[in-house]
Amino acid sequence: MDEQIKAYIRQTKRRLRGLQDVKSAFSAVRDQTKCDVETIRELSEKGRSTIPEIDYASVKDGTVSDKLRQECRARGAAIIRGVFPRDQVEDWNAELGSYIAENDYLKKAEKKAGLDQYFSALDSGKPQIFGLYWSKPQVMARQAESMARTKQFLNGLWDVAGPMGDEFDPNEDFAYADRTRRREPGDKTLGLSPHMDSGSYERWVDPAYQRIYGKVFEGAWQDYDPWKATFRTQTREYSSPAVCSMFRTFQGWTALTAQGPDDGTLSLIPSACGIAYFLLRALQDDVAEDDLCGAEPGRALSASPEWHSDILEGLVSIPLVEPGDTVWWHPDIIHSVANHHQGDDFANVIYIGASPKCVKNEAYARKQATHFLAGKSAPDFAAEDYEIDFKGRATVDDLTDLGKRQMGL
Ligand SMILES: [Fe+2]
Repeated sequence: MDEQIKAYIRQTKRRLRGLQDVKSAFSAVRDQTKCDVETIRELSEKGRSTIPEIDYASVKDGTVSDKLRQECRARGAAIIRGVFPRDQVEDWNAELGSYIAENDYLKKAEKKAGLDQYFSALDSGKPQIFGLYWSKPQVMARQAESMARTKQFLNGLWDVAGPMGDEFDPNEDFAYADRTRRREPGDKTLGLSPHMDSGSYERWVDPAYQRIYGKVFEGAWQDYDPWKATFRTQTREYSSPAVCSMFRTFQGWTALTAQGPDDGTLSLIPSACGIAYFLLRALQDDVAEDDLCGAEPGRALSASPEWHSDILEGLVSIPLVEPGDTVWWHPDIIHSVANHHQGDDFANVIYIGASPKCVKNEAYARKQATHFLAGKSAPDFAAEDYEIDFKGRATVDDLTDLGKRQMGL
């Protein structure tokens, strides 16, 4: 880490530690966290799901109960089942496989390896993620009406009202073109250690993040509301390949194949307030003045046994999901991908998050659209640009009216 960054961290820590008694605040947050983690463990040991599950039919009809919405808010995660019909998704999965094979992706990827350093600070290496953004299945899934409704529902869990007007429009969304994962059965080498995306050291240093987490930093962590949108679209992330520069209300993916606890797929800590533990942990006496428990700009924010053991106990796998189901988590939720895929089939997903209409997202969408038209990698990611001459890539003619709006075209 360069000296300038270390100086920012020292400065920030001095200031934040002056705002409250960070030791007693952390002690209280830690007790609460341990209590939450115990509940999560008890439920999962009894075989009960700790991640709320919702049928797409009730999202479509607007009949999701307040209790279930509240549960989504408390857990910071949700599974919305049946967003796409199984047949449709199985076709997409096969089509994506052909797109990769016919365009000789693997051979081309070998030559370009090493452009993406984002996960290099984590213990495990990269999962089998393909740097493809514009295959027809990805574009079709992003622009589907059912996906748009799902995202409206999720955006609606946030409180958008703020002193300067609404932070974002929960009913309109821009597409965020992300990649696709195709994980082979038996794979052992590829996984992701527990981490958060959407900012690492920025969560302490960036002025907008300091305001988002104001209650935690200023001695009122009990009043912190992870669903208050104010300032969320105003954060600035250190620029680097694969750091998301859109604001996402939820990260998420759509399952292309069935996958569950043993299939090398997603685990997360379903506690929306876990971030308070994380933030205050780094301000304790046993952490060096120029260190935030390992947080580094341009890297995923890692949750490590060394610093965060209390909360890591709460890491649970998602339940079995079927093709067409979708999984969603709040940007402050710690998540991981298991090291070992012990199942018999591919665990494939298309990453699609919720990125609602706001100034920040619109600016990115406009930049992204020029990359789409040229077939280049999406601007947030390493400029591998595989798809420029790929056969069968989606073009503007494949976009519906909704798809064009979502692409800022
Ligand atoms: Fe992640």
